[in-house]
Amino acid sequence: MKTKQHKAWLLALSLAAGALVQPVARSAEPPSGKTATEQRLAWWHEAKFGMFIHWGLYSQLAGEWKGGYYQGIGEWIMFKARIPLADYAAVARQFNPVKFDADAWAQLAQDAGMKYLIITSKHHDGFAMFSSQADKFNIMDATPFGRDPVKELATACAKRGIKFGVYYSQAQDWSAPGGAIWKGRHEADPTYEVPQWDPKQNGDFDTYFDQKALPQVRELLSNYGPIAVLWFDTPLGVMNVERASRLEKLVHELQPNCLVSGRLGGKFQSDYASEGDNAVPNLSRAGAWETPATLNDTWGFKKHDHHWKTAANVTFKLVDIVSKGGNYLLNIGPDGVGVVPKPSQDTLRGVGRWLKVNGEAIYGAGRTPFGEEFGTPDKAAAGAKSAPHREWRCEVCGAAQDHQLPFEPRTDWRCTTKPGKLYIHIFHWPATGKLELPAVKEIISHAYVLADPKHAELNVTQTESGVSIALPPTAPDLIAAVVCLETK
Ligand code: GLC
Repeated sequence: MKTKQHKAWLLALSLAAGALVQPVARSAEPPSGKTATEQRLAWWHEAKFGMFIHWGLYSQLAGEWKGGYYQGIGEWIMFKARIPLADYAAVARQFNPVKFDADAWAQLAQDAGMKYLIITSKHHDGFAMFSSQADKFNIMDATPFGRDPVKELATACAKRGIKFGVYYSQAQDWSAPGGAIWKGRHEADPTYEVPQWDPKQNGDFDTYFDQKALPQVRELLSNYGPIAVLWFDTPLGVMNVERASRLEKLVHELQPNCLVSGRLGGKFQSDYASEGDNAVPNLSRAGAWETPATLNDTWGFKKHDHHWKTAANVTFKLVDIVSKGGNYLLNIGPDGVGVVPKPSQDTLRGVGRWLKVNGEAIYGAGRTPFGEEFGTPDKAAAGAKSAPHREWRCEVCGAAQDHQLPFEPRTDWRCTTKPGKLYIHIFHWPATGKLELPAVKEIISHAYVLADPKHAELNVTQTESGVSIALPPTAPDLIAAVVCLETK
């Protein structure tokens, strides 16, 4: 039952959480009555689950430089090891990922049940994984490989009906003179001034922006067919309203249907909000938002990172995110020869098998009407003068809740919806044999396990204070069984 007090808590927390969301576009209203942003988002709201791919020269370094192993996310190795530009160019001269197979990667996305795919076309290291006239530090001109992975992937995705998008680091570029460089946590310290490590990085940001970033974004939108998403990242301080507007205008002039992700910078330029890396909000969140997430603890391949998430864990996250109104963009980090690590393939195919049976409750599904299932605000901690930042992990499914707001999450069940249907995803099969839910205002006319081809009727007791459903004695699915409640 939702008590008044509990509702007030949920409201207060949603408002507080909403304040953290990045602003989204205010587009002019076209004749259909839907804003341009809403029109662009239609397929994306259906899709729910996408593949992110971090792949570049850093994949070849795999977390190591000159015998040293570097902590943290692998695609930042050039920054962490302060690799001089000439040495990084030498890495390019050895980059020859002969095992790269665009069809195999796109097929993996399809097997996983992912509906869109976004690859790093240029990460912060400044190296373009596509053919570029604007800058010669690219895979065609600077490596022996001689193939364009962005082109091959665009084709492989088109063949399978997977929407294709590109990540582009618009502000940070550690190889181009004038490209921005993160100043780290010292940024607040006015005396801190050493982000650069190679004199070749000296230069003017606007020159970089006009001569590399804008032309390369133009190339990406002109040479690879329909681009579904342009995924920008780390705007830092430099992506002011004026620069962000120039990028947004360029994208939508060249491809009006292309979505602009939440990290463009400036204000009110994006089509949807991007959560922090691996961050899932505690509660439902309004608007269009996406959680970008890793399968281990890095985006770009690192040979020593074996901290793989399981199919059960990823499935929980997918359901959790969809039940809160979001999309899940899950990363693979292929290695330097182009092979996707086997554990990530296994996890993704496991999720795909679950989705084959239960996809009806995910694709195009809406938020939960409840809220109690997410857990409860930790009132004691919230009331304390300085509420501690808590990280919490479910021992069974590993679901991580890492949020500024003190919260005691629960992971027993989640709910997604479609008109006339409530889908209850059960992660912890109740030992009592009964699924107890809060009150449902509509009359429940049918209840069945989605995976049961016969849709055998389950016994439901519905009162004003709640719903009780008699379940089969054992869970029909080890990851999560979905009970569909049809309402009228
Ligand atoms: C971060 C990192 C970056 C990664 C991205 C993915 O902002 O800078 O390396 O690509 O998150 O969401």
